[in-house]
Amino acid sequence: MKRQLTVALAKGRLAEKALEIFEKVGISCEKMKDKKTRKLIFVNEEQEIRFFLAKASDVPTYVEYGAADIGIVGRDTILEENRRLFEVLDLGMGSCDICIAGPASAKGLLESNEIIRVATKYPEIAKNYFYHKKGRTVEIIKLNGSVELAPIVGLSEVIVDIVETGSTLKANGLEVLEKICPLSARVVVNEVSMKMQHERITKLIRDMKGVI
Ligand code: PRP
Repeated sequence: MKRQLTVALAKGRLAEKALEIFEKVGISCEKMKDKKTRKLIFVNEEQEIRFFLAKASDVPTYVEYGAADIGIVGRDTILEENRRLFEVLDLGMGSCDICIAGPASAKGLLESNEIIRVATKYPEIAKNYFYHKKGRTVEIIKLNGSVELAPIVGLSEVIVDIVETGSTLKANGLEVLEKICPLSARVVVNEVSMKMQHERITKLIRDMKGVI
């Protein structure tokens, strides 16, 4: 018997969009569309595939350990978690940038050698960028959301955060000071699954590529 393929989806908008792509390639999971359900895992017996919903930051963990063969998650999470896995497809959705942002007055500070404070949900991405790319020391302060508050209330000079439309920054008197890199949703695959179920997984990726 063929082994069931397990797909981990990052909970929320991304999961909904990912399911639309799966539907387009002929894999459906009707039960998952029920917005009221509190269930986290959904099996499609017939097509030997199951989907589960996880917190975005946990998707790379499930995939690295093989608890999921495939994961769909934002590149921000992939970069932040830095897990061993294959990143195989850019779904092109959820496009945005990860940026350094702050008040216009922080521009000068960014160019100076002063030790500045950087608030972010992404300490690893921030550390990599400032330490390795820019070769400078900063103080990184980890936050869990509403990061735009930090420079306003004096917790940090700048932030490292996702900018999609830019409206959150604008509404709070902040601006992009430097772009770090572009982001979008990606398909990731467990390294062992890629070998053991090569045919099935590569076909699925090819099919997905054809519909995005
Ligand atoms: C994200 C991000 C920014 C905002 C950017 O926050 O952290 O705050 O969206 O989008 P925009 O450029 O279109 O305004 P999210 O909504 O995930 O909330 P959080 O910051 O509380 O995690």
